[in-house]
Amino acid sequence: MIGGVAPAVGWGKIILVGEHAVVYGQPALAAALDRGVRVDAQPADRLTLCIPAWGIDVAAGGEHPVSIALGAVAGALGVGGAALTAEAAIPPAAGLGSSAAMAVAITRALGALHGLGLDDDAVAAAADAAERCFHRRPSGVDVALATRGGIGLYRRGAGLAPVDAPRFTCVVGLSGEPRSTATMIDRVAAAVGGDAGDPRLAALGDAALRAGAHLAAGEVAALGPILTSAHRTLATFGISTPALDAMVDDALAAGALGAKLTGAGGGGAVIAIAPGREANVLAAWQRRGLDGFVASLGAA
Ligand code: MEV
Repeated sequence: MIGGVAPAVGWGKIILVGEHAVVYGQPALAAALDRGVRVDAQPADRLTLCIPAWGIDVAAGGEHPVSIALGAVAGALGVGGAALTAEAAIPPAAGLGSSAAMAVAITRALGALHGLGLDDDAVAAAADAAERCFHRRPSGVDVALATRGGIGLYRRGAGLAPVDAPRFTCVVGLSGEPRSTATMIDRVAAAVGGDAGDPRLAALGDAALRAGAHLAAGEVAALGPILTSAHRTLATFGISTPALDAMVDDALAAGALGAKLTGAGGGGAVIAIAPGREANVLAAWQRRGLDGFVASLGAA
């Protein structure tokens, strides 16, 4: 515990299949990480947020994107001052849902401090106001996972349908390349010509449904080829990079059953399904000087 009040949590996430397509109404299969952002709130006149791990120390009313997001959450909740301190166990801007995890944790912390009695829907609505500060068309998948945890199929408008999957491991590699979700969303929009009917989007949505059905049946290995195929499709939008492609190839050469970029792309993270070969995949990435970790995914 950071201070005198139990910290509020927002979970990080990975998208197994369906990023970008989910912005256009397709389903995405996504899972909460077993780590995220914790925020402690103390009474104060001004509204401030300090996240030492990300080098962020801002007050609401400033021009920093996090300052604007902070103000958006407070505005959505109708609350004023608080001194917020966050512990972040996921890197920022790496495709792991850091902004949503932060927004959910801020919302929960402010809600607890001001005795608002927020349910998950109210938390997600306020956190979504912050997400809109970072990119214009958030599907809501990051906020849904940051709020509810677990694993499920998410569709814009319908929300998160939990998938009753056995716990399984996924290897997460960090490319270290900075990227902007908004820029990648614009790039996909250009690639599909703004056409929600582009067959690649439908193929990704179909892959998310098939992957979800396999998980529900306990067939984790069946995710492998679906993930690698999804990576190749995402690359046709121009959102992979030589480094991400190399990380996918490294993972497959190290015995992974499948691998892909996760999140917006353009940098950020790669995931690999590699039962029993997790250490080999991490070692392959480490030979490139890249960090990673093994995430345990499944029911909340
Ligand atoms: C980002 O984690 C996932 C995207 O599909 C954007 C969104 O769903 O809002 C790229």
